[in-house]
Amino acid sequence: MRVVSLSAALAGALAAVGATQPDMWAVYDAVLGAAKYVDLSHTIEPAMPVWRGFGNITFQPATNKLTGKPFTYAEDLFEATAYALTTDQLGTQLDSPAHFSPWRAASDEIPATYALSKLVVIDVSDKVATNASYGLSVADIREWERRHGRIPRRSVVFVRSDWSRAWPAVNTDVFPQVLLEAVKFLHLERGILFHGHEPLDADMTPAFDAESWVLRNGYAQAEGVANLHMVAPTGCLLSTGFPKFRGGLGNYVRFVAVCAQSWPHGVQPSAVAEAPMPAYARPLVWDAARGYRARE
Ligand SMILES: *[C@@H]1O[C@H](CO)[C@@H](O)[C@H](O)[C@H]1NC(C)=O
Ligand SMILES: *[C@@H]1O[C@H](CO)[C@@H](O)[C@H](O)[C@H]1NC(C)=O
Repeated sequence: MRVVSLSAALAGALAAVGATQPDMWAVYDAVLGAAKYVDLSHTIEPAMPVWRGFGNITFQPATNKLTGKPFTYAEDLFEATAYALTTDQLGTQLDSPAHFSPWRAASDEIPATYALSKLVVIDVSDKVATNASYGLSVADIREWERRHGRIPRRSVVFVRSDWSRAWPAVNTDVFPQVLLEAVKFLHLERGILFHGHEPLDADMTPAFDAESWVLRNGYAQAEGVANLHMVAPTGCLLSTGFPKFRGGLGNYVRFVAVCAQSWPHGVQPSAVAEAPMPAYARPLVWDAARGYRARE
């Protein structure tokens, strides 16, 4: 019923503008404005899992180079933060193909079309529950397709393992994998845009078999994806946003799933204070012990 009424609303909206090409505001009013938005990114903070070869990150209050003092609301009207980030391979991130090959795209060379795609979620959490290093296989993908239909071309495929639900207390040595055969199948047989997984690497092989193949062949991949237990296996969209560092090899990314209004998880634009956003009972203050600004 929901699908019928949404389609009818969309058709009505398109007819109303007399458009052969959909007017995107009509699409927004009919569907996206009442959709459920689910955040799929981890918060970047000093106490987060980082591969030990890169080392931990630190935050500091930004200092005014003219006075040598940190900016303060009282004296400068604003404060700012300086981040010492040891790597662009941090938290929820999108690997640029150039991470493994200088002949392939860097951050600023990734097309703007990456902003929006269909989202597929393949759930192998039941297999990971009995084998912590379980690897997504072609058989798992075919099993998903028997139940949900063929994976659409150009979709983003996220692999749900529930590994990230223990974040930040996750095991970065033994983790659920995505097998080389699976990424080859997704790209070569299904023509997906990119795949993503919850752990910080695709597999535990010494030569990073899956990740090497993906990146060296010019595909991106997402790592450190969160909250996949809150997204439907089919039918959601994925919004992808990241900063544009020149020559960047990894991308701190905000992934947001955009799901149907009837989906039980996520927030609707009408249900949150967006503009203005709320005032808080406690101010944000620099917490030297924790190494970030906090409200308590
Ligand atoms: C890095 O951060 C983690 C989590 O806060 C901490 O356990 C670890 O000791 C830190 N490592 C170093 C080298 O500071
Ligand atoms: C766990 O999964 C991995 C990757 O699929 C596989 O190589 C390994 O044999 C499995 N372990 C067990 C005990 O089934």
